[in-house]
Amino acid sequence: MIRKTLLALAATAAIAGPALAAGEAEVTDISFSFEGPFGSFDPHQLQRGLQVFQTVCAACHGIKRVAFRNLGDPGGVEWPEEQIKAFIAEFYPETTDKETGEPRATRPSDYFPPNVDAGAPDLSLMAKARAGFHGPMGLGINQLFKGIGGPEYIYSLLTGYHEPPACAAESNIEGSYNIAFPNGGYPAECIDKNGHRMAPGSWIAMPQPLMGQDVEYQDGTPATLEQEAEDVAAFLMWVAEPKMMARKEAGLTAVLFLIVLSVLLYFTNKKLWAPVKRQDF
Ligand code: HEC
Repeated sequence: MIRKTLLALAATAAIAGPALAAGEAEVTDISFSFEGPFGSFDPHQLQRGLQVFQTVCAACHGIKRVAFRNLGDPGGVEWPEEQIKAFIAEFYPETTDKETGEPRATRPSDYFPPNVDAGAPDLSLMAKARAGFHGPMGLGINQLFKGIGGPEYIYSLLTGYHEPPACAAESNIEGSYNIAFPNGGYPAECIDKNGHRMAPGSWIAMPQPLMGQDVEYQDGTPATLEQEAEDVAAFLMWVAEPKMMARKEAGLTAVLFLIVLSVLLYFTNKKLWAPVKRQDF
């Protein structure tokens, strides 16, 4: 029964998946190391992602909910204390004290600054605020198989800069066109008579931030556009959910506990009813 239902669901998802993607936005599925019940963040990837964020994205975006000292947390970026201090000294040596309003030296307990560019959103929770996958009729069935897709959305956004679709040739909107971005201005010529979008994406106010070779990775990983996009997406996932590892561990412990409890209850039940079941009525 359950098998049948799952198969039916899988079939629906397979049919409906591409249909929706073509209309609104194109999001690539990536298998990140932190996916699944046993997945965990890769500190090396997070370190590379932080490097991309600091070198490129921080020019416009803030991550104001992240304290510098969290860069040392286990299961995350896992930087030693000296490295955090060196990072602060290099990029954010001074801050304004919240209480006195006076400038002072930044401490590890301070937070990353908020946005620089007024139009750019804070990225602290972005990886959880956007969904890469939906499903037929907005039921979210694809999410059952692929996850919510926040980091995949960020990856696809960063690699999704393209020429505007051919149907928008007459449109005179200026700016960058992104096939993963569903929320910007959309060329009216690309909407068919039923109101459906004929091409994915929309115009976006963020100029293409990554071109490839934007950083030189300290661990020697080649800095292709795809690699940079994946690393910064993983980093932003950690930013949005730094306690993901602890949550998964607690979940697994709970499941194990419930399995043991079920076994015990099964035998207790058997034992309690044994005298009754032996009687002939
Ligand atoms: C030149 C400034 C600038 C830089 C550099 C920049 N962004 Fe943006 N970003 C923006 C602006 C402006 C928006 C708002 C776009 C809009 O709503 O049309 C934005 C929006 C976003 C969004 C949200 C899209 C949505 O669905 O609303 C994400 C995610 C994002 N940027 C990630 C990044 C990442 C990751 C980097 C670094 C690789 C980066 N940005 C670099 C200016 C910038």
